[in-house]
Amino acid sequence: MKRKTKLIHGGISTDPATGAVSFPIYQVSTYKQEGVGGHKGYEYSRTGNPTRFALEELIKDLEGGEAGFAFGSGMAAMTAVMMLFNSGDHIILTDDVYGGSFRVMTKVLNRLGIHSTFVDTSNLETIVSAIKPNTRAIHLETPTNPLLKITDIEEVAKLAKEHGLLTIVDNTFSTPYWQNPIELGADIVIHSATKYLGGHSDVVAGLAVVNNKKLAEDLHFVQNSTGGVLGPQDSWLLIRGMKTLGIRMEETEKNTAAIVDFLQGHSKVKKVFYPGLETHPNHAIAKKQVRGFGGMVSFDLGSAENADKFLSKIHYFTLAESLGAVESLISVPARMTHASIPVERRAELGITDGLVRISVGLEDVEDLIDDLNQALE
Ligand SMILES: Cc1ncc(COP(=O)(O)O)c(C=O)c1O
Repeated sequence: MKRKTKLIHGGISTDPATGAVSFPIYQVSTYKQEGVGGHKGYEYSRTGNPTRFALEELIKDLEGGEAGFAFGSGMAAMTAVMMLFNSGDHIILTDDVYGGSFRVMTKVLNRLGIHSTFVDTSNLETIVSAIKPNTRAIHLETPTNPLLKITDIEEVAKLAKEHGLLTIVDNTFSTPYWQNPIELGADIVIHSATKYLGGHSDVVAGLAVVNNKKLAEDLHFVQNSTGGVLGPQDSWLLIRGMKTLGIRMEETEKNTAAIVDFLQGHSKVKKVFYPGLETHPNHAIAKKQVRGFGGMVSFDLGSAENADKFLSKIHYFTLAESLGAVESLISVPARMTHASIPVERRAELGITDGLVRISVGLEDVEDLIDDLNQALE
């Protein structure tokens, strides 16, 4: 099955009980048992719900894994995955991960004895030098947020296997439409499904996919024990959003290429960060591992004042946290999504005050370029 077909026919696309082509919302918490233990596969909706299961099967098929899991947010998915580890374990993560991922590792999970080190995972040697006897996993975000650095998943997964570590990939930016980490050797994939998978700025959700039975059993145990599950209504919204992921990603790609071209030629733009650019330091790896470069672009306007002036003039790019929606969104990472990262660390990473990040949407690209142009002028 090709990818666009899988988005429509993957998972459980039709309700086996009724034939309903739109999988029904099973708005239910518990299930009648004919005798003790005599149920039809569902006992209680924290443990399993048919609508959530249809979504979990769909993301499993899209990522090519063994089992999928749906959570109340991307952060809930990441936290559940981290609950696979024990006190005393150490995780290596990409240095410019999403601010919330940095926060949960350094302000919450550290209190439970799960330690972390953040390194530039686009450089294998820095990963090797961060491995300790208690390291258990390497957690990658690629492309990164907001500087769009690329890590070679295949190479990291090989290295991880040599050291007996798990490879976890946050695939939010690329989505399974453009990138399949499990095929490249990763063990676990995480999504903030709030972004491209949902695609319409109307649902907060997280997904995880694992590549073997043991991890599937362990993560289901954590999901059921800690309970951060996605409800049936939001599961249904996600299934609906994901049906159009392919055409949305294709169209986003075209709009983004035109916008990157425009930004590169503008004198007020100091630097453009986009993995599709041949000048991007990791362009060769990106070309090897993704089928599309995505709709996220960052550019530097030189100062916070310039960024503020620009933002006060822009119309079609909505100033908001989040990304991956039909509407174009814009943010200033240093003061929004990455504000929870200490200022010195942001400076080290190159997340400057003048850095603006856009998530290119599906408006007419001529309108988007005209809008950027007038705001820059
Ligand atoms: C790359 C990435 N991972 C994880 C998250 C967290 O997801 P959520 O906001 O759904 O909890 C985000 C949110 O912006 C993100 O951008």
